[in-house]
Amino acid sequence: MSGHEFQSHFEVSGDVDHTDQSTSLTEANVQEMRYILDRYPQPRSAIMPMLHYVQSVDGRISPAGVQVVAELVGVSEAQVNGVATFYTMYKRRPAGTQHVGVCVTSLCAIMGGDYLMDTCEKHLGIKAGETTPDGQISLEAVECNAACDFAPVMMVNWEFMDNMTPDTAVDLLDKLRSGEEVHSTRGAKITSWKEAERVLAGFPDGRADEGPTAGHASLTGLNIARERGWGAPDPASIPAPEPKPEEQK
Ligand code: FES
Repeated sequence: MSGHEFQSHFEVSGDVDHTDQSTSLTEANVQEMRYILDRYPQPRSAIMPMLHYVQSVDGRISPAGVQVVAELVGVSEAQVNGVATFYTMYKRRPAGTQHVGVCVTSLCAIMGGDYLMDTCEKHLGIKAGETTPDGQISLEAVECNAACDFAPVMMVNWEFMDNMTPDTAVDLLDKLRSGEEVHSTRGAKITSWKEAERVLAGFPDGRADEGPTAGHASLTGLNIARERGWGAPDPASIPAPEPKPEEQK
């Protein structure tokens, strides 16, 4: 059985979903969106965090959310739509309670990312770009997460799951579905898609320091350099580049 589409990826074009006019935004939410706006000298700079905020409430970019952002920022709804439909982190259909990404870009794909995606699709009974019928898990093929040294990687609500295998992927999905507490392989506790979106909107949850800031694979080069006493050259000791011929005239 296949779930509903949440539609977010590059091949999807068009507007936000106007067939679903539902919203959970309240006046209290709009007030919080004003707080976001107040943080930015240029009102347009608040569009992206405000859209994350809309997702933290509605689970998607709702037409009502677009309208509120446009009104508060002082731009047209078309301009807000332009931002919301350009970036893949903004969803036009509801994402699941947990949003799972599988990196399928070259390095992860070579290291098993395609097989991971295949495993997740079969285990969940949905395709990438869809949400399970119970609304628990949405699945997305994501591009390089800048974590190639931990390939193949998955994400849950943008938290890293490093060095995944088909077995650990199935275990992760089962734990997420059962509501069991799950931690990123880097330590952070996995909350929910909506809670993560609220943090991206600029409302910290106090957990920024959970887990290391850099994993062992990212630090390997640095550790080797330290062991061998290597360091960056003193910029003052580097000779200035020779001027180009046209600069010598
Ligand atoms: S290719 Fe997957 S993190 Fe870079």
